[in-house]
Amino acid sequence: MPVIEAIDLAKTYVSNKKQPGIWGGIKALFSRQKTYVEAVKGITLSVEQGELVGFLGPNGAGKTTTLKMLTGILYPTSGQARVLGFRPFDRNPNMLRQISLVMGNKNQLWWDLPAWDSFVVLRELYDVDEKAFKERVDYLVEALQITDKINQQVRKLSLGERMKCELVAALLHAPKVVFLDEPTIGLDLVSQKRIRDFLLDLNRREGSTVILTSHYMQDVEEVCDRVVVIDHGALIFDGTLDSLTAAYSDSKRLRLTFENGVPAEELAFFGEIVESEEGCVVLAIPSARTAAITGEILQRFPVSDVAIEAVSVEEVVRNLFSGSAVTNVPRETLPPPV
Ligand SMILES: Nc1ncnc2c1ncn2[C@@H]1O[C@H](COP(=O)(O)OP(=O)(O)OP(=O)(O)O)[C@@H](O)[C@H]1O
Ligand SMILES: [Mg+2]
Repeated sequence: MPVIEAIDLAKTYVSNKKQPGIWGGIKALFSRQKTYVEAVKGITLSVEQGELVGFLGPNGAGKTTTLKMLTGILYPTSGQARVLGFRPFDRNPNMLRQISLVMGNKNQLWWDLPAWDSFVVLRELYDVDEKAFKERVDYLVEALQITDKINQQVRKLSLGERMKCELVAALLHAPKVVFLDEPTIGLDLVSQKRIRDFLLDLNRREGSTVILTSHYMQDVEEVCDRVVVIDHGALIFDGTLDSLTAAYSDSKRLRLTFENGVPAEELAFFGEIVESEEGCVVLAIPSARTAAITGEILQRFPVSDVAIEAVSVEEVVRNLFSGSAVTNVPRETLPPPV
């Protein structure tokens, strides 16, 4: 049985229309004009126990709204959802005890107390026994490397330390399903990495199901086997990262640096220019012709540096969102020498 199941899940936010200014506010009190935002337009999805799933999508795509519906914070406008067999919006205590939602931009720890004090309160709340609690905190705190931070007032912690304490708090009750909404937002690279490694370790140890949203592609690349791409409230891709990039595998990127000026016009003969900055150009070329094209370019132009790269996940996703087709250059022959 899937751990998470959503069928045609949709959410439309309804709010009262308000014109700007005080008058607008007063008029809104009497008018019945409403505005509707279709944040999620019917998402169907099924996740098995132990899966690591990344939600990708541009700002406003509906990722947070989806997570909120799956955790029972928001009531859907239509459609169905089941998490561990429960309807999330019933907020059944037996479901709540087995899930967790971590939001990178919200805190649940008491600001003026050391994190440890909050952990103790949560222990009571979830009714975790003393010994299990001690072991759990030890594991989490060590894995996240914050052993020496949990006795410090939360307000005095750095953003990264605080986020790690939030994670400990959210995972004290050993939830089966963990929803994380941008858990690494604003953190430095070292902390981001620590959190990624931690999530992988947690999944390996406990078989927890992890649903993660992030704007940092590396989070999704390293942690998730499966990606769900959401755009304008709709699911536009669901599959492995590999299958997402496979569509682009017959194309390579040739990164060329020039000392004086880029011969952009001539380069366009060889492939599609996908990036162009001062002195540097990235060309999309067919994989099968990488050697021939690279050789030809090196012979003809004063190239100071060259690198051949695979299409990055970032680029794939960018293309998906912009609705442009897979960049494939079906050029069979090299242009004649200039
Ligand atoms: N409480 C609300 N009332 C009205 N509209 C809302 C509300 N919350 C979100 N929205 C709108 O719903 C849409 C989806 O928002 P959501 O927060 O789910 O996007 P997101 O994919 O999480 O974006 P981000 O990557 O920026 O976090 C947006 O257009 C947003 O403006
Ligand atoms: Mg969001």
